[in-house]
Amino acid sequence: MWSARLWRYLQCSMKVTSERYCTSSARYPGMKRGNFSKVTEDDIKAFESLIPSRVVTDPQEIAPHNVDWLKMVRGSSQVLLKPKTTKEVSDILTYCNSRRLAVVPQGGNTGLVGGSVPVFDEIIVSTSLMNQVLSFDDVSGILICQAGCILEHLDNMMEDRGFIIPLDLGAKGSCHIGGNIATNAGGLRLLRYGSLHGSVLGLEVVLSDGTILDCLSSLQKNNTGYDVKQLFIGSEGTLGIITAASILVPSRPKAVNVAFLGCESFSDVLKTYQLARSMLGEILSAFEFLDDFSMNLVEMQLGLHNPISKQPFYVLLETSGSNSTHDEQKLDVFLEKVMAQNTAQDGTLATDLSKIRAVWDLRERIAEALMCCGAVYKYDLSLPLPKMYELVRHMREKLGDKVTNVVGYGHLGDGNLHLNFTTNHYSDEVLNLIEPCVYEWTANHRGSISAEHGLGLKKANYIHLSQSSSSVSLMKGIKQLLDPKGILNPYKVLPH
Ligand code: FAD
Ligand code: MLT
Ligand code: ZN
Repeated sequence: MWSARLWRYLQCSMKVTSERYCTSSARYPGMKRGNFSKVTEDDIKAFESLIPSRVVTDPQEIAPHNVDWLKMVRGSSQVLLKPKTTKEVSDILTYCNSRRLAVVPQGGNTGLVGGSVPVFDEIIVSTSLMNQVLSFDDVSGILICQAGCILEHLDNMMEDRGFIIPLDLGAKGSCHIGGNIATNAGGLRLLRYGSLHGSVLGLEVVLSDGTILDCLSSLQKNNTGYDVKQLFIGSEGTLGIITAASILVPSRPKAVNVAFLGCESFSDVLKTYQLARSMLGEILSAFEFLDDFSMNLVEMQLGLHNPISKQPFYVLLETSGSNSTHDEQKLDVFLEKVMAQNTAQDGTLATDLSKIRAVWDLRERIAEALMCCGAVYKYDLSLPLPKMYELVRHMREKLGDKVTNVVGYGHLGDGNLHLNFTTNHYSDEVLNLIEPCVYEWTANHRGSISAEHGLGLKKANYIHLSQSSSSVSLMKGIKQLLDPKGILNPYKVLPH
């Protein structure tokens, strides 16, 4: 299954890759390389002595680590380091800090805001070999693992023991838990389990000067001063390298059902959501939506099958509970009401695993389908629900035939819209029509310019649209305190 998916993705990718490539410094011409040292032969020797045989300088092997998942930004690093232990990460940062060498931490490199790859020649420190599960306690449900564990591997391991990782996303097969925490990823289960700020109980982090910060607590309650670990959740590699995490893992729900509904209008989607919250209450575990433009893409590009009649909008609603008879009864009553009130025009219920998977694919694989269309301009916004789809319409009208697709989908239950545009080839003109318009529209409607993907390189200069100047100035102070030489993921998050 995965290899077929991967192959299809590679085919799409190969078709357009060479056209999309553009170095970050060329795409952001105003940006200047910071005052960092350049890597020398002596530095390579020093790294070899710290992590023998895990210093990569072969340009071919480094190439995929220099380019982001969207193939929109590219750096030119010549060194990739693969530590296995916290001590090794500490030794690397102690050395880099003393030499003023810039570093970009990298997990699965699935980030969508250009944060995970170098902008110039920053050294890439990958967590790919830091993939050990350190402990799991069946009674408390507390998992402690290294930062480079792949999300899906952790979830499979938890499934065998009757537990579930409280985070799920389309990139689960390659993203690392450290990368998830560094981006404060939201994903498909946030509605049920809340954000990583709640599920992460403790972190171990290596600071820019090599200090190992031990906040690896496994306590659910610990009101002893400032909760320092929270600073690193969502800091996108700019304050420290996360090396291990302690996560509170819930029991895996025994009964999972998925309903897929078609709605005539976005206001019907909202009415369906309102009804779902009131009628399904505690068993509602996901409420996602996609528009017909998104559906066309997954059908055409990936050959997926829409199980219901064509409608302008679709809702994917999941329930998770402990008693399937109880949950199915509740869902039946809800579906009857939705149909009777005509808020949904068509629908289907998936209760067996393969059908549930097929329905989830329609939503989860939109990002992959978009990648088959050429250049993707990706936006991830928090907006008040009544305003959410207005922005999609506004931009569709504004861009007309300058773009090949304008699609809207997202985590509606979290107030999170994913707005994406495609063109056959990357175009500065199109980018300038979209930005800052999308961001300003969002700010004017009291939304956030990044709901879950972070700021990375691409959105750093727009931070002031979602944060007050006093907050940004405190953030700069924290960065200065923790990384006075600015070696950790420069040009990202804070305005450059
Ligand atoms: P990377 O991409 O390698 O890095 C991301 C950022 O974190 C970079 O700034 C990097 O420097 C930093 N970083 C990485 N590891 C560490 C570390 N150990 N310590 C400190 N900093 C580190 N995001 C969502 O929120 N919700 C979704 O539903 C979602 N779906 C996705 C679906 C697809 C198909 C794809 C491609 C991406 C999706 N994402 C989603 C984006 C998301 O941010 C990531 O997939 C994930 O959280 C990044 O993990 P990663 O290991 O790939 O990190
Ligand atoms: C999603 O929810 O599908 C992801 O955040 C990826 C995307 O925005 O395309
Ligand atoms: Zn998302």
